[in-house]
Amino acid sequence: MRVGNDLNQNFEQKEHKYPMLSLGNTYSFEELKDFDERIKKNLTEDYEYVCELKYDGTAIGITYINGVLSYAVTRGDGQKGDIVTNNVKTIKSIPLKLQGKDFPDEFEIRGEIFMPRPVFEKLNKQKEENGEAPFANPRNAASGAIKLQNSALVAQRNLDCFLYYLLGEELPSDLHSQNLEKARNWGFQVPVNMKICKNIDDVFLFINHWDTERKKLPYDTDGIVIKINSLDQQKRLGFTSKSPRWAIAYKYQAEQALTQLKSISYQVGRTGAITPVANLEPVTLSGTTVKRASLHNEDQIKLHDIRINDWVYVEKGGEIIPKIVGVDKSKRPKNIHPIEFINHCPECNTKIIRNEGEAQHYCPNSENCPPQILGKIEHFVSRKAMDIAGAEATIELLFKNNLIADVSDLFTLKKEDLEKLERFGSKSAENLLNSIEKSKEIPFNRVLYALGIRYIGETVAKKLTTSMKSIDQLMNASIEELTEVDEIGNKIAVSLREYFSNQKNIERIEKLKQAGLQFIEDKSSLLSEKLKGLSFVISGTFEKHNRDELKKLIDAHSGKNVSSVSSKTNYLLAGEGIGPSKLSKAEKLSVPIISEQDFIKMIT
Ligand code: IVH
Repeated sequence: MRVGNDLNQNFEQKEHKYPMLSLGNTYSFEELKDFDERIKKNLTEDYEYVCELKYDGTAIGITYINGVLSYAVTRGDGQKGDIVTNNVKTIKSIPLKLQGKDFPDEFEIRGEIFMPRPVFEKLNKQKEENGEAPFANPRNAASGAIKLQNSALVAQRNLDCFLYYLLGEELPSDLHSQNLEKARNWGFQVPVNMKICKNIDDVFLFINHWDTERKKLPYDTDGIVIKINSLDQQKRLGFTSKSPRWAIAYKYQAEQALTQLKSISYQVGRTGAITPVANLEPVTLSGTTVKRASLHNEDQIKLHDIRINDWVYVEKGGEIIPKIVGVDKSKRPKNIHPIEFINHCPECNTKIIRNEGEAQHYCPNSENCPPQILGKIEHFVSRKAMDIAGAEATIELLFKNNLIADVSDLFTLKKEDLEKLERFGSKSAENLLNSIEKSKEIPFNRVLYALGIRYIGETVAKKLTTSMKSIDQLMNASIEELTEVDEIGNKIAVSLREYFSNQKNIERIEKLKQAGLQFIEDKSSLLSEKLKGLSFVISGTFEKHNRDELKKLIDAHSGKNVSSVSSKTNYLLAGEGIGPSKLSKAEKLSVPIISEQDFIKMIT
């Protein structure tokens, strides 16, 4: 219902000066030949093509006026898109000001915002640690990031951008390739992997070359874009109602295999999230044997009408885990029925729930469902959390022998109980107890992360504990107080309130306090108390420090970072290009606006 439309109610929209059309695409060389024949028929003179990689991200149009980034708009419905200027400005490879002098007074440059694969993998790992559903692929992660409401969060996503197309009344050259060269000199990241091809056979060579080479790139590409180089010829060839006649995309076929679905298993994660997994008749795909594929959630099963014993197409696209992309209904055996999603947890038989607006089912029995208990303890002892060496491998054994049923039980383990266990000698019992003892020195932010509260990952835990210096302060904070903390949104605040309103969690924290864990932020990282009781909002860019450094200075001098200006804000620390809404709000509420120098004076 919203195909090809990324409009978002929370962004202002803008009409595209030049509509953002899509490209005609094909998977076959035959059709490329037809495309070339059409060009030949329409142009009587010689022509050349430019072949470029087709980047798999989200399209953006950025307008520069007098060499300064003025606004950036998403594709939207092709006619108008969302203004995401502030988010785009966080992408380091996009220049805010252009170099040189020979750029047109006003022009638009289009390109693709993408998330490099290593960044995507790291982000998904973090998401899993936080108990959140991972992104299916880098494209979804990039388009999700560019639509975040908080630019500071966008900056953390490490997006990147390739620019591949200029639009304007006075471009430097008639050749697309030369305009891109110019754009590179002005400071844009223009891809180097492109080629001018004199005929369609050269185009085929380029396509074949990149079919294998593209897999070595640290970002996703899904095809090749073939464009007529001369802008004059482009103009004469013109557009159909949907796409230009002077360009086409050749798409690489994602590797697929056909196999039979034997059964479905349901996995329960540490937060209770239930994921259906397809068990397949083993099949070879891109050189590896695939036995299982993620089905994500109930909606995905319904979307493809997947049934047990169906012949299904498995694909390894941009995703890490293979996915089922369709069913060969001509092979469907008789008398097989649609899958009925489970109603009860496969592990503890509790009735499962699905919250409105969410795709995932959850088992609500967080206290007694075995994989949830085990998953929570495993998370608690993990390296980035309490770092209890050697415990990860032992948790299941301890759990099965009824020695632990909760993270707090780790701190009452006795040597004689451990020694009774299979494979456990006196030395290994001692080692485990020693590392449990040592974990009592782990700082508060990691203890908070270790508790495994939904959405409280490592970074969020750090943010929270720089503002809320003890677990008691955190437990008593209202939603409003929590969302005042820099970069803490409503979703996280609600999750914390839910966690602390459960008596079982309060009892657990009490036991952990008794055991001697750190529930107060260590004061030794403080430089002074000069900013005690003062809250700051930072906006813009600064000369001496970047925003993160300024935030750290505020923390280190006992001040508080907040994300939005309110009547309670003490100072707005304003840099160049400060957000206009923050500025006008501060002026309206008479919040003092200070410069970087003023701030440095306050702390020295
Ligand atoms: S040129 C009118 N060049 O693919 C032609 N597009 O299916 C403008 N894309 O909307 C697009 N890499 O989001 C062009 N090297 C490239 C591209 C590219 C990726 C995307 C872009 C476009 C879509 C068309």
